[in-house]
Amino acid sequence: MTHDAQALRVAFGRFMTGVTIVTSRRDDGAPIGFTANSFTSVSLDPPLLLVCPGQHLSSYPDFQTTNHFAVSILAEGQEDVSNRFASSKADRFGPGGWSSGHADMPLIDGRAAGFVCEVFERVPAGDHTVLIGRVVDFDANNAPGLGYGPDGYFALGQERRAEAPAAKHTRACVLLDDGQHIYLTAHGDLPSVQIGPDASPLQGIEAHLATQHIKADLGVVYALYDQDDGGREIVFRGHVATAPAGLTQAPIATATAADPALDALLKRFAQEHKTQAFGLYVGSNRAGDVLRADTRG
Ligand SMILES: Cc1cc2nc3c(=O)[nH]c(=O)nc-3n(C[C@H](O)[C@H](O)[C@H](O)COP(=O)(O)O)c2cc1C
Repeated sequence: MTHDAQALRVAFGRFMTGVTIVTSRRDDGAPIGFTANSFTSVSLDPPLLLVCPGQHLSSYPDFQTTNHFAVSILAEGQEDVSNRFASSKADRFGPGGWSSGHADMPLIDGRAAGFVCEVFERVPAGDHTVLIGRVVDFDANNAPGLGYGPDGYFALGQERRAEAPAAKHTRACVLLDDGQHIYLTAHGDLPSVQIGPDASPLQGIEAHLATQHIKADLGVVYALYDQDDGGREIVFRGHVATAPAGLTQAPIATATAADPALDALLKRFAQEHKTQAFGLYVGSNRAGDVLRADTRG
């Protein structure tokens, strides 16, 4: 067994999770917290959960001594909260955005669920501690939870809406790359196909590529946006091992397109490809948001 920590981190990162904010208070009452995806529900009777604070955390000593902590499960749309609590530079507990719950524990506003715990047991485990809490108060609502996986954040609710049959005309597109190049049609566009009202965009683009004899591993949705004419574009990512016949090759770093929305998408891809941290664009061809991951601590 090799001990390549970076490779192991990538392998662990294949496990998809939700995202939580783990909070507590220092002895002087100041709120502390960090982003964690190590959350696991453990037991119903007694009610137990666990999170794993790492020794790298500035708040690690406080989590070693505190009697209580809280866990807020983030909802879709709270990527900024996750990034704030994962970045050492950010002001995590500015005004608004959180409130005190049971035992004065800080809880994040807009969460999908929240738990306040008494510390049940601390198990030292390598460079982390398994912090087991007994739930003394909790809440939950119907907000879909924010997801986290190898490609960064994901929002299943939004992706499901993307997969829902289109009301108007939907065009499924694919951004094909081989690790060094992207592949456009002769017209400088992404390979694409119109999707019928009851059809799945993913199956539609798969079938389209098959008719072109293009073998691609299709990945996650990369962009989802509405055009001026009311049509919807869904862009999947796809990986090809060899250059597909009939398409034009362009280096990832310098690829451009005449269409401004596609040009912006190619530039974002060039940037994100450097760090392999890919976001999901949701909006229109003019404005929208990129749901993006921060680097893991
Ligand atoms: C999605 C995500 C999940 C994380 N999960 C954990 C975790 O389970 N345990 C941990 O110690 N750090 C985790 N981190 C890293 C910490 O959030 C980050 O190192 C921390 O906020 C740094 O805090 P500090 O500036 O107070 O040291 C995670 C980061 C991200 C983005």
